[in-house]
Amino acid sequence: MGLVPSAVSGYSCRMKRSLGSRTLAVPAPVWLIATYDAKGKPNFMTVAWGGICSSQPPCVTVSLRSATYSHSAIVARKAYTVNIVSSSQAAQADYAGMVSGRDRNKFADCQFTAGRSSIVDAPFIHEVALVLECRLMQTLDVGIHTMFVGEIMDVKADETVLFDDRTLDIARVSPIIYDTARRAYRGIGQEIGPGWEIGKAVRKQAEESSAEKTE
Ligand SMILES: Cc1cc2nc3c(=O)[nH]c(=O)nc-3n(C[C@H](O)[C@H](O)[C@H](O)COP(=O)(O)O)c2cc1C
Repeated sequence: MGLVPSAVSGYSCRMKRSLGSRTLAVPAPVWLIATYDAKGKPNFMTVAWGGICSSQPPCVTVSLRSATYSHSAIVARKAYTVNIVSSSQAAQADYAGMVSGRDRNKFADCQFTAGRSSIVDAPFIHEVALVLECRLMQTLDVGIHTMFVGEIMDVKADETVLFDDRTLDIARVSPIIYDTARRAYRGIGQEIGPGWEIGKAVRKQAEESSAEKTE
């Protein structure tokens, strides 16, 4: 059997069933977005609608409904941090997605400690392994959400999740993903292979088969 993806997966010849217009771009991240409100109270909320949107400068987007307390905080402070939770913190992430900082002190409720970013006007969560410190760069209303594009001014990683001074060991971070289809949290799986590398086998096979056709 060759390396053509459809032949490997075995899905290509089956009937595709329509599931309708839904947010099923799986997987989605589970991030805690931390902010200061107008009075300086630190808060965080869970988001699944987010992702990297530029390599240079490094930027990330998060999409928040305007009804959230965090939405007004990002508008007021023009900054937020992305706190990437580990699998052991899934319950805290779930909690932070169900209650509002308007009514509760989620830092106290989750027994998290707020640190102050020295770079942007936002707090971060000491207990998470990985933090992206973001300056608000652009805002775009998309349906019921506002997409906040943040420039990543710095990344802070706990020393215990580094191979060396600069290389992150994602296995030790143990990030979780949100399964939008089943509304469940999942861990990440095993490494499959090196990026910008394993595709070379497909390229080689494709080149060989086009060479055969022209012979
Ligand atoms: C797994 C999960 C993912 C969520 N993703 C988002 C999201 O991407 N955008 C959003 O506006 N709300 C999202 N929420 C809901 C908010 O986290 C929730 O409304 C939260 O209470 C807002 O907190 P705040 O009022 O303190 O800002 C999510 C909730 C959960 C449990």
